[in-house]
Amino acid sequence: MTKPSFYITTPIYYVNAAPHLGTAYCTMLCDVQARYRRTAGYDVKFLTGMDEHGEKVAEAAADHGFDTPQAWCDSQAPLFRDLWEKIEISNDDFIRTTEPRQHHAVQYLWDRMNESGYLYKGSYDGWYCVPEETYFTENQVKKSDEEHETQGQHLCPDCGRPLERVQEESYFFKLSAFQDKLLAFYDEHPDFVQPDFRMNEVRTFVEGGLTDLSVSRTSFDWGIPVPFDDGHVTYVWFDALLNYMTAVGYSLDDEASRAEFAKRWPAQYHVVGKDIIRFHCVIWPAMLMAIGEALPEHVFAHGFLTVRNSETGEAEKMSKSRGNAIAPQDVIDLMGVEGYRYYFMTDVSHGKDSAISFDRMEQVYNADLANSWGNLVSRSLNMSAKYFDGKTPALADGWAEKDNPLREIAQGIEARYAACMDVMDYAGAKDVVMELVHAANHYIEDTAPWAVAKDEARAEELRDIIVNLLESIRISAHLFAPFMPETSAEVFRRMSLEGEETTDDLAAVCEWGGLAGDVPVTKGDALFPRLAADKK
Ligand code: ME8
Ligand code: MG
Repeated sequence: MTKPSFYITTPIYYVNAAPHLGTAYCTMLCDVQARYRRTAGYDVKFLTGMDEHGEKVAEAAADHGFDTPQAWCDSQAPLFRDLWEKIEISNDDFIRTTEPRQHHAVQYLWDRMNESGYLYKGSYDGWYCVPEETYFTENQVKKSDEEHETQGQHLCPDCGRPLERVQEESYFFKLSAFQDKLLAFYDEHPDFVQPDFRMNEVRTFVEGGLTDLSVSRTSFDWGIPVPFDDGHVTYVWFDALLNYMTAVGYSLDDEASRAEFAKRWPAQYHVVGKDIIRFHCVIWPAMLMAIGEALPEHVFAHGFLTVRNSETGEAEKMSKSRGNAIAPQDVIDLMGVEGYRYYFMTDVSHGKDSAISFDRMEQVYNADLANSWGNLVSRSLNMSAKYFDGKTPALADGWAEKDNPLREIAQGIEARYAACMDVMDYAGAKDVVMELVHAANHYIEDTAPWAVAKDEARAEELRDIIVNLLESIRISAHLFAPFMPETSAEVFRRMSLEGEETTDDLAAVCEWGGLAGDVPVTKGDALFPRLAADKK
């Protein structure tokens, strides 16, 4: 049976500074989903990459004293790739918009747009925010200035930074023609944008009317040339959005590329920050409608990680441009990569903004990982090794059918977990697993295996207790694997269950009864050494 395709993408990141916690957060969100879907039997393609054109990147290159934006981008690409590797990002592809494949696809797009009747030449006269690479109309700017009572300088309605005045010849994409079509599409696909409240925001925005979008620049040359008009380069977003199709063979005519495109497009998920919803939920769908391509199934919009501004005391978006970014290495130094992944994926709410703090990180790490999950594994493996001669107990016939409190909680656990994972409710999924972990820790207290072990007449009881604990651990390790892949792999190794982590049938492996009996078991070092209060 061929596996269903699951194509998931991150935004491609601007190359204006090193990646930070916010950038890594979105990438991690996708990684957890990609890993989960692989275990759930999907043929996954997970794409991430870098957005290398545009004024913002060209300015960053100049600011850093590079001769060309390309040289600057080349110098930064390894920082992104290395970070993704370090934090266990399992992307299948890494696209850079300066690659030939993107150049080809974007020029192909121009020709399709030109044929579509939704492209015309005109001149743009208005405002431009370089940090956001976004155009703003006179009205949008006026409204924003009234709110902020600015004098002289015009500020970006989205990010509050100074705008540039742009007057130049430009090609326009007839976005205004898509208002009704977009609204009809949203009606037919109410879960196109997730969570729901973001769908409502998008709908309200489109109902307010759409203006045509300038999609080429002439005052500036760091971009992909418009194939039929020298002197025009592609507006960075018109280029960037296409990366999602480029990476699966769009515009290529050979058989393999056509097959890949047919299999992968449309994408199941574009995961993006709330700052770029309009591009993904309005402009991108309209572009696809114009050229007759299918629309992505879902856009999941997450909130921002915020940090407290030490001067104003207010929570503000962590960003490269604002210079308040925290380096992932600081978190890794505190609690390791797996602790880092666990905290950001299960404790941060993915729909709304979240203020992050090192205190909270430490609390979660100690409570969930050191005291609960890590402790359960170490106590259980230790007892198994101690009472059963360095091995897991030999399994008695019918052991998996015997009633016990852990088996009861484990019944249907995968379905409860999947219902959360499917909608990126990672906190909910974590709660499902932690219920079993907590129950197992209580079970140790309730059954007191150390006392049972003293009485030879209770050998069968002891064996059952240890087997139930190990089986709970095996199942929990499977369910935690998307969040903490290396820890789960290590748990499987310690239980002589190598190979378990590569499953593509999560429901089956989470059935009670999969344990290997009478095989070597090793206690090993603590998976999550407790953080002392002064270790910050
Ligand atoms: O917008 N909290 O790139 P970008 C959470 N190149 N997520 C954050 C964050 C924070 N504080 N800061 C950044 C671009 N992000 C375009 C995208 S896609 C075709 C082109 C994440 O480098 C968030 O997902 O500004 C945001 O949407 C993304 O980084 C944008 O990164
Ligand atoms: Mg940004």
